[in-house]
Amino acid sequence: DSMAADSKNLRVKLVLLGDSGVGKSCIVLRFVRGQFDPTSKVTVGASFLSQTLALQDSTTVKFEIWDTAGQERYASLAPLYYRGAAVAVVVYDITSLETFRKAQYWVKELQKHASPGIIMALVGNKADLQANRAVSSQDALEYAEKNGMFYMETSAKTADNINQLFEEIAKRLP
Ligand code: GTP
Ligand code: MG
Repeated sequence: DSMAADSKNLRVKLVLLGDSGVGKSCIVLRFVRGQFDPTSKVTVGASFLSQTLALQDSTTVKFEIWDTAGQERYASLAPLYYRGAAVAVVVYDITSLETFRKAQYWVKELQKHASPGIIMALVGNKADLQANRAVSSQDALEYAEKNGMFYMETSAKTADNINQLFEEIAKRLP
């Protein structure tokens, strides 16, 4: 029998949104290259990277990742990147309530303008900074569930939950 018949190769357009400094680019760098850059520079416009994830059932998922710029001056560009995206990852920093509010703004914008059926993840990054936590996991989880998203806390610095985030996304693909 044919091995090819058992394998599926998916291609998925994914967009990261969230306030400047929450760690979007570091999450992508960790996932794609297994590295962390403590001196990461602010993203200008957006950057594109892709990474293929092999799942246990011989499915492969090629993530085409649009890492958007979080600075306010780039906000009007966001629709160029989330339009047609199958997955949106909305990131905040667990040590900053302001970034959690900004995440909620992005969720509302996606609900109004993104493709219906888009898979949305809410990600609390910088989970290594527990002592400075400003947003409780409980509040974030409740918000995510109310809005049909799944929720995860990650650390691009320690790599905690980074691969798991993309695996959870892969599981939810149609
Ligand atoms: P914009 O490109 O401006 O939208 O910002 P960004 O969301 O891409 O932030 P970036 O990934 O550049 O990270 C900003 C800063 O946060 C950098 O100094 C990182 O080193 C730091 N950082 C990112 N992720 C983590 C993390 O998980 N833990 C800690 N402690 N610091 C992090
Ligand atoms: Mg960036």
